[in-house]
Amino acid sequence: MALLAFAGRTNRKQSALTSNPSRPWIVRRSTAVILLAAFASAALVLSPDLSSVRASSLFGVIRSPGDAAFVASHRGDRKVAPENTLPAFESAIRAGARFIETDVQLTSDGIPVLMHDRTVDRTTNGTGRVSDLELSVLERLDAGSWFSPEFAGTRIPTLEQLLSRLGELAATAQPVRALIELKGYWSAEEAGIVTAMIQQFELSGLVVLMSFDPVTLDNARIADESIPRAILIKELPSDPVGYAELYGAIAIITSADAIAADRWAVDRIHRSGMAVLVYTLNSKSSWNQAISLGVDGIITDRPSPLMNWMADR
Ligand code: G3P
Ligand code: CA
Repeated sequence: MALLAFAGRTNRKQSALTSNPSRPWIVRRSTAVILLAAFASAALVLSPDLSSVRASSLFGVIRSPGDAAFVASHRGDRKVAPENTLPAFESAIRAGARFIETDVQLTSDGIPVLMHDRTVDRTTNGTGRVSDLELSVLERLDAGSWFSPEFAGTRIPTLEQLLSRLGELAATAQPVRALIELKGYWSAEEAGIVTAMIQQFELSGLVVLMSFDPVTLDNARIADESIPRAILIKELPSDPVGYAELYGAIAIITSADAIAADRWAVDRIHRSGMAVLVYTLNSKSSWNQAISLGVDGIITDRPSPLMNWMADR
């Protein structure tokens, strides 16, 4: 607005000056100032729309209350196959999930692998922190037997393996998108390992990087601003839009409690052009509440039941 007011003042000045043919350089300078001000104003006005385009190109049109949300399969299809393994992602894809959610950590030799917990203890036959183990050790672990003997010998996947699969699907009529959570803190250099891989597989339009840690999200922006980012936050701050905008996020991913606590929160976030996703909803009542508030995406451990429920509505 200040720029528009300035342009207006300059315009009046220009009218007076154009009647004086002895001062053409001032006219040219005034015209340039007006054009510059108009351009800057347009950029200011348009910038929320640009973020809206990014959100809608990845998540579809921003929803209204009652609209169907997209379904993101949490850690793959983790009720059917061991979480964050290739069989779990394949199960989600077969079920028809158009989004999968996963968690990434770096091995001690800097390779991104898919694992939720900080240690391998719960979901493999090994022990220790992911960040203390080399890939050559991690890839020998059994990440399936804890879930069921049927999955004995299933390995911890690398991010590269998942992105390669998504790259194959990107060329089909049913591309699958991914919500990729950077677990813990990542430096810009570390985030750059992931962003470079996403570019290598030409998936920058099909993935979003997310983190509970805003500094990590900022470091992902430093690594590669062109890859969309979403902020994960359990409880919404008083100004969620301002908070997310600080980090250039295209979406806020929050809990059911957070959106229930403030019934206008989804609406306010939408008006800024950002999408709202909710984690991790597994019951019909929670799906119903999220849909009635107009969320854009639901992260769930039960992709098939949620898709069926959505289709039946
Ligand atoms: O990424 C959304 C949701 O998965 C966050 O919780 O603990 O399952 O990674 P968590
Ligand atoms: Ca996660």
